[in-house]
Amino acid sequence: MTRKISPAPALSGAVHLPGDKSISHRYAMIASIAEGPTRISNYSTGADCHSTLGCVRALGIEVTGAGTQFVIHGRGLDGLRRPAADLDAGNSGSTIRMLSGILAAQPFPTRIFGDESLSARPMRRVMQPLAEMGALIRARDGKFPPLEIHGGHLRPIDYAMPVASAQVKTCVLFAGLYADGETSVTEPARSRDHTEIALREFGASLRVEGRRISVAGRPKLEGRDVTVPGDLSSAAFFLAAALLVPGSSLSIPGAGLNPTRSALLDFLRGMGAHIRLPHVESHNGELVGEILVEYSLLTGGAIEGGLTAALIDEIPVLAVLGAATREGLVVKDAAELRVKETDRIRTVCENLRRMGIETEERPDGLVVPGQQRFHAARMDSFGDHRIAMAFAVAALAADGESEIHGAEAASVSFPQFWDTLAAVSGRPASSR
Ligand code: S3P
Repeated sequence: MTRKISPAPALSGAVHLPGDKSISHRYAMIASIAEGPTRISNYSTGADCHSTLGCVRALGIEVTGAGTQFVIHGRGLDGLRRPAADLDAGNSGSTIRMLSGILAAQPFPTRIFGDESLSARPMRRVMQPLAEMGALIRARDGKFPPLEIHGGHLRPIDYAMPVASAQVKTCVLFAGLYADGETSVTEPARSRDHTEIALREFGASLRVEGRRISVAGRPKLEGRDVTVPGDLSSAAFFLAAALLVPGSSLSIPGAGLNPTRSALLDFLRGMGAHIRLPHVESHNGELVGEILVEYSLLTGGAIEGGLTAALIDEIPVLAVLGAATREGLVVKDAAELRVKETDRIRTVCENLRRMGIETEERPDGLVVPGQQRFHAARMDSFGDHRIAMAFAVAALAADGESEIHGAEAASVSFPQFWDTLAAVSGRPASSR
């Protein structure tokens, strides 16, 4: 599907976010191996989180409900059943990598696959620790999905992760729930800690010492009522849009503000963004609050080291924003971007160039000089949700009507994105 986007007058109103993608996956997976029902409110409407629901259903877990409210009828650590068919993770790296930790402990074999994009994403990062724990995993060419997992009895390990990845951390901690004794994982840089918070919420015992997280095996996990905060990574597109279009002012209620995710707000504020958080509360251990943002002239900045890991999903839209800052944006230490849903260094630079924006592509990052003007262009999502949405934002600041091909990709994390964008820019959504 192609979406046409015209330059926007000032944006205003409220943005209603989908439930956080990362937290939705974790609640669905943990609830499946907890005892008794878990009622999840504000579950993500994105296709990725529905891939997770499809997988847990295929593993014999009853899931009732619809829309954003689901009940997962957990059957305890040993309650999963051998699926009748291969598990389909769709486009979702989180589903295949995190669920592998649980699958590796099952007394039956499973095969899990994904779409074309997922089939090209690296899986050794989860195969390695799971093999150390005693699981046998086969992959296409030794590293790509489909994964064939022959699980069983797992030993605890003390694992030093070579890449900062919350998905890998989660995979090891989930497998650790089934090991006898304590499993530890040490991350090279702090990644999102939703798993640690959610596991505690469901009754697991965790120890966090600096970057080392340890989980005790065989906990009693109990189903409970949980509410998913709004997705801050989805909010990022509207924060950027408001900061790009003069006169804009948006309210984004119910956003997740977990400190391992909210580096985005600090980074934007550091560049001069007018962002306010009038009140912040805690729900199920996660911080949540309304974000108020107003158009602001930004200075520009650098994203590197641990900050790159903390902003990894927001870099495409920050790169767009960088072109409109005074001094531009430099992104370093971001080789991980090359193995996301697309090679995001390449797809960001390609679309920026189509808009007449000067960029420098580097092996592990990019440079976008500031004070540039966006020209109307035909952009492509390349099948990547965050690329579709980042360039819809860029198109708002262009000098004419732009097109985004493959716009439907947005529904991987934010199916209501186009309608929300139309609503805050005060015009009907147009597509063909
Ligand atoms: C996620 C972790 C990140 C992120 C992805 C979601 C998670 O991936 O890019 O969108 O929910 O744990 P990595 O763990 O591969 O860095």
